Amino acid sequence: MTKRPLILRTIPALRRALAGRRKARQTVALVPTMGALHEGHLALVRAARRRARCVVVSIFVNPTQFAPNEDFATYPRRFAADIAALAAAKVDIVWAPSVEVMYPQGFATRLVPEGVALAGLEDRFRPHFFGGVATVVAKLFMQVNPDIAVFGEKDYQQLRVVTQMAKDLDLPLRIVGVATVREKDGLALSSRNAYLSAEERAAAPLLHRVLQESARRIRRGEDIAQVIAAGAAAIGAGGFALDYLEARHARTLAPIVSVQDGPIRLLVAARIGRTRLIDNVAV
Ligand code: PAF
Repeated sequence: MTKRPLILRTIPALRRALAGRRKARQTVALVPTMGALHEGHLALVRAARRRARCVVVSIFVNPTQFAPNEDFATYPRRFAADIAALAAAKVDIVWAPSVEVMYPQGFATRLVPEGVALAGLEDRFRPHFFGGVATVVAKLFMQVNPDIAVFGEKDYQQLRVVTQMAKDLDLPLRIVGVATVREKDGLALSSRNAYLSAEERAAAPLLHRVLQESARRIRRGEDIAQVIAAGAAAIGAGGFALDYLEARHARTLAPIVSVQDGPIRLLVAARIGRTRLIDNVAV
């Protein structure tokens, strides 16, 4: 029978459980999530499992990273199914604080990340987002004090922001990025894919096809600006409203005009119907 993970909802209970693990000299890995878990999250858990004796998964839909017009209220919440999946993945601890535990009455401190958080990608369309992510992830790091923390490359700018934040705050942990898990047709797994109608779902893999084709053309030596313009046109013709399609430096996220300035990461965000999708690939 699969063993249910220990589900903890208060900071003293979490600290007690982790103190026991530390006393037994166990390494601790944290996988921060907002729940509604899919194979992409489970790949993060497996990466954590390979690297640490004790795996903690946090499930917390973080209100501070949603703007008032975004989907905080309707964001999918499937706690029972999440726990079953985490039990099967042999997770040790699920850290599931309430909003009141994470942000108690009188909470008044926020991180304001700069640098990669102001690269002009997600931040241009979701200006509140990285402040909320950096604040909650810093709190999760302080609460769990992990040796490593695992994030998906699908949210590529987020991965860069939390890596920089951990470095800037001298937090003694290693951030591990894990490759995006995709459906057979290339669509990146995301909890928000549940919002897609059948017709939108059929159109959605176009984003990955355009990224792949653009990366191929850039590798062949074609002009980056022209490749990006052709990709943007294809995404528009495919029924999406494009937020951005950009070639950026893989580490600094600075704009790139030539392959010599690389390594290059291609990043895209586009809306289809009421769903906003993001994706990225290495060149
Ligand atoms: O990527 C996510 O699911 C969230 O942004 C994170 C890192 C769990 C912070 O709320």
